[in-house]
Amino acid sequence: MNSSNRFLVAVVGAGPAGLFGARELANLGARVVVFNRDIKPGGLAEYGVYPSKHTMKEGFRKQFRQTLALPGVDYYGNVVIGSHGDLTLDDLRKLGFDAVLVSAGAQGTKWLGLPGEELEGVYHAKDVVYFYNQLPPFTQKHFRFGRRCVIVGAGNVMVDVAHFLVRERKVEEVIAVVRRGPLEVNFTVKEMEAVIANLDLEQLDAEIARVAPSMRDVGQDPQAGKARILAALPKAVPATSNTRLRFEFLTSPVQMHGSGGMLTQLEVEDNVLALKDGDTKARGTGNRRRLDVETVIFAIGDKVDEAFGLPVEASEFVKNPQPRFPIEGLSYEAFDPKVGKPIQGVFVGGWSRKASEGLVGYARKDGINAAKAVWEYLQTLHPRNAHPEAVFARLKDLGKPVVTKTDIQKLEAVEAAEAMKRGLEEFRFGTNEEMLQAMKLLQAV
Ligand SMILES: Cc1cc2nc3c(=O)[nH]c(=O)nc-3n(C[C@H](O)[C@H](O)[C@H](O)COP(=O)(O)OP(=O)(O)OC[C@H]3O[C@@H](n4cnc5c(N)ncnc54)[C@H](O)[C@@H]3O)c2cc1C
Ligand SMILES: NC(=O)c1ccc[n+]([C@@H]2O[C@H](COP(=O)([O-])OP(=O)(O)OC[C@H]3O[C@@H](n4cnc5c(N)ncnc54)[C@H](OP(=O)(O)O)[C@@H]3O)[C@@H](O)[C@H]2O)c1
Repeated sequence: MNSSNRFLVAVVGAGPAGLFGARELANLGARVVVFNRDIKPGGLAEYGVYPSKHTMKEGFRKQFRQTLALPGVDYYGNVVIGSHGDLTLDDLRKLGFDAVLVSAGAQGTKWLGLPGEELEGVYHAKDVVYFYNQLPPFTQKHFRFGRRCVIVGAGNVMVDVAHFLVRERKVEEVIAVVRRGPLEVNFTVKEMEAVIANLDLEQLDAEIARVAPSMRDVGQDPQAGKARILAALPKAVPATSNTRLRFEFLTSPVQMHGSGGMLTQLEVEDNVLALKDGDTKARGTGNRRRLDVETVIFAIGDKVDEAFGLPVEASEFVKNPQPRFPIEGLSYEAFDPKVGKPIQGVFVGGWSRKASEGLVGYARKDGINAAKAVWEYLQTLHPRNAHPEAVFARLKDLGKPVVTKTDIQKLEAVEAAEAMKRGLEEFRFGTNEEMLQAMKLLQAV
């Protein structure tokens, strides 16, 4: 018996974690079937990384193509797994999969439950990011990017969304609303270079002066805070708009106000810094004020999809607290806290293990480690012959086009030709229908 036929593993999600996990499993000797919600592989490496980072994106694609080219790896795009999906986890078990690696990213939306979140003009960053990266169906959604836009948060996603509003939408003002101070921001200097030319330097001085007493109270130097924000200035990318970018530190959103269903104001509460367990926390002062804005975008991280069919606590799928197959001390095993037992054969990796954690390199390592945990689990089972053909037969019954790795090659060729024809660095279809037509799959199955 060929060792590559002994175990059949389903990988759910073809982002960096899933694809590097699939490669690891195939190299170890498993037969792997990757299911992906999106037509194209890549996850956030394709539909999150800022669109103008062509070289980086192409570098990732090259590695993903190598994985998909492996004979022991099948790819089925346009297939959603989960309780409300095309196939459930139970369906996968019935199809003969020995293990499932869930690497579906963090597709849930983390709302704070504030009044006014339903108003037009209030969005979560993930949806905006998917929109400007042209991931269907977000391409078809209407977004109201007004003259004055708030982005809540101080991570790299905040900076990416600011990048879009400053350079593409060229709005009048972008305000980053940050609950802690300038020394607690999370974005990297490199990312900030794309927008810092638009930063209102006078306003930054005023803002640092405003929050200086609270910073000093916790032993911080306000000038060090200013230096942290301005670290990107020496390599600032020249401005292409008159957008005014500014920060509101020590500020938390508390309510959105609107008129006729449209957002008109964001109400915020001022915070002070407080030291707790060695960390600097934001504590509300009760002082509230309002900002006149037409758009608020929450860039505060994501959570996993609660409807997927695995138990969720806080923002994460629950992991076995005492893993049978720990890798580097971490648990990759899905766990049911109601019965206090691991969910047999189901593993989580990448942003499905830890939502909004790290870069592509981190997801890659986590996917590989998750695959190692899966492999150790497989060694406890009786080897048997894998029958991936049954999977394709089942997918044919779904009544929708299913995209294979050969189809992806066709799509890439059509998009590359289109880019050349239009004189663009890159071209991508904005709807699933156009992609399916390009692959001649609309009448298929
Ligand atoms: C806006 C933004 C910009 C970023 N920019 C960078 C950057 O410049 N450089 C960098 O290194 N990192 C960047 N990152 C981080 C990087 O994208 C992530 O670390 C990485 O993509 C996470 O990988 P993942 O495989 O865990 O999840 P994801 O990349 O989210 O992949 C999840 C995959 O699962 C699929 N899926 C979801 N649900 C289902 C389901 N139910 N059934 C089947 N398939 C499903 C999705 O279609 C997707 O393909 C960025 C992240 C964001 C949010
Ligand atoms: N270009 C790139 O390289 C790139 C681009 C995008 C994303 N990424 C990566 O993707 C990962 C996720 O990025 P991210 O920006 O989503 O996460 P992040 O770096 O964790 O930033 C989240 C921000 O939201 C704030 N926040 C969280 N909960 C909040 C609340 N209840 N109220 C107000 N503010 C709140 C956090 O503030 P506190 O610090 O106070 O908690 C923090 O400033 C990171 O690893 C990031 O580096 C990389």
